[in-house]
Amino acid sequence: MRKLLVFAGGSNRPLAEEISNLLGKSLGEVTIKRFADGETWIQVEDSVRDVDVFIIQSTCSPVNDNLMELLIMIDAMRRASAERVTAVIPYYGYARQEKKTTGREPISAKLVANLITAAGADRVLTIDLHAPAIEGFFDIPVDHLPVAPILAEYFRETLPIQEVVVVAPDVGTVARANRFRKLLGRGLPLAVLFKHRPEPDMAEVEEMVGDVKGKSAIIVDDLISTGGTLIEGAKFLIRRGAERVYACATHPVFAPGAVERLEESPIEKVVVTNTIHFQQKGEKIEVVSVAPLLARAIKYINEGLSMTTLYKELKPIKFQPAL
Ligand code: R5P
Repeated sequence: MRKLLVFAGGSNRPLAEEISNLLGKSLGEVTIKRFADGETWIQVEDSVRDVDVFIIQSTCSPVNDNLMELLIMIDAMRRASAERVTAVIPYYGYARQEKKTTGREPISAKLVANLITAAGADRVLTIDLHAPAIEGFFDIPVDHLPVAPILAEYFRETLPIQEVVVVAPDVGTVARANRFRKLLGRGLPLAVLFKHRPEPDMAEVEEMVGDVKGKSAIIVDDLISTGGTLIEGAKFLIRRGAERVYACATHPVFAPGAVERLEESPIEKVVVTNTIHFQQKGEKIEVVSVAPLLARAIKYINEGLSMTTLYKELKPIKFQPAL
């Protein structure tokens, strides 16, 4: 087993603390400041010579600052002779331009993968990439963990729901929703909504395949930004006869106003994880922690173990920030 040190960027310190507590370690010391012109200034305070280094940093808002912090931290570790550097990116931003849909578009998800690799990362550990193909944008090993087993278990344990139908809120989410449906494990039906965006950040549901009448619908998505996809989806499902609507999504991107809109919506509960730290809590929002999953994955990587048993006996726990 190699000596292991976990460092945190500034994006999600509460999650990093939870992970390091579960690993029985303190976080490595790193000072992060800004130059007067806004540039990121970093000093790693602990020696990392010959150490197996893990840097926890979600590339969430402020995305450019958090991304630069990650890149500069990787560079610092590499130059300080770390034996191996793993970028732990619970939420991988810049993932929504992952293919060209018209001419003259970038593939930002690939560019960011190149940057992380060029900075000197040896491997990446991440959760629920917006598009699974992004894993292949890296030429270094990527451990890409789904959170569906934990969310499905959470629904099974906490919500007294019967007559369930799992709903994909758009065609891009069908595989994800179907995996979640199988994990709930009761031969449940699947419904698919057909969403379109008349303009950016606005969602409308055109049609649906499946039957939701008299059922509890669980909408499964990878992220919530404005909340429009879930809210418009929920309204449509209720119009089509759903008794009640729940929702779950891995990444609470939560654009301004999203939590309020979700609170006022007909959705009963919105279950998200803490891949992104957010301050504003709502009555309907439940947060399940990914810390046990990431702590175990870090231990497995450090010990060179196969990830196939990673989820065994992993129980969902609610997010509790470390004191
Ligand atoms: C779309 O491709 C994603 O899976 C999400 O459905 C979408 O990004 C959610 O955005 P919003 O909450 O703004 O509708």
